[in-house]
Amino acid sequence: MDFEKIAKQLANPSGEFGINVALGMNSMNAFISKTTYDLLQIKDAESVLEIGLGNGKFIESILAYGNRISYTGIDISEIMITEAKKINRHLLDTNHIDLFKADVEKMSFWDETFDKICTINTIYFWKNPSIALKEMYRVLKPNGILIVSFRPFIEGQTLDFTKYGFKEYRAEDFEALMQQTNFKIIEKIDKIEPSIVFNGQIHNLSSLYFTLKKLVHKVR
Ligand SMILES: C[S@@+](CC[C@H](N)C(=O)[O-])C[C@H]1O[C@@H](n2cnc3c(N)ncnc32)[C@H](O)[C@@H]1O
Repeated sequence: MDFEKIAKQLANPSGEFGINVALGMNSMNAFISKTTYDLLQIKDAESVLEIGLGNGKFIESILAYGNRISYTGIDISEIMITEAKKINRHLLDTNHIDLFKADVEKMSFWDETFDKICTINTIYFWKNPSIALKEMYRVLKPNGILIVSFRPFIEGQTLDFTKYGFKEYRAEDFEALMQQTNFKIIEKIDKIEPSIVFNGQIHNLSSLYFTLKKLVHKVR
């Protein structure tokens, strides 16, 4: 198996191969995705932004957390947005979902647009993490919640593709990054995931979930 090729696709899926890699992500990342959405505690009428949504397999389940939820999904990959639109074509007419190509580091949303933001397994690919976090802070409403979830760096990692172009974080690396922002860490959860099979091998993975709140400074 060409792990370098897979790593490139995970960072920015393209073509037929990218479509298939995204289908693989749906099963490999089902647990981390569902856990993240649960932790978001989405309520009626909230606006949710997902950054790096991949093929958008879980959008319908996100809308089911309440009534009148509006969902916006962005991804840097054109093919992922095309796929997400195909998979969710029955939802596109409802005005509750909006999907388009964009980079987390340069989003075109107005300030303070979203109640909740989540991003799952994308942190490894942020070119400039402080710009990405500033952007997420900007588009989040005051006291809004951001969840960043990822698989932390572990010595002897068994998923070989992470050796190629992934910037991996330990919990303490992420915490250090947070100190440069106005986000407050509300909760940090570490979970052992159900085993997955990849490339004919069983992998026991764990994932980290940081719940961050946008702190609002009082005007003096
Ligand atoms: C490993 S996949 C994860 C997909 C999905 N969130 C999951 O966990 O299954 C990473 C996704 O993030 C997207 N991505 C990478 N860098 C990005 C960026 N700077 N802005 C927006 N999306 C990005 C990739 O195109 C890809 O679809």
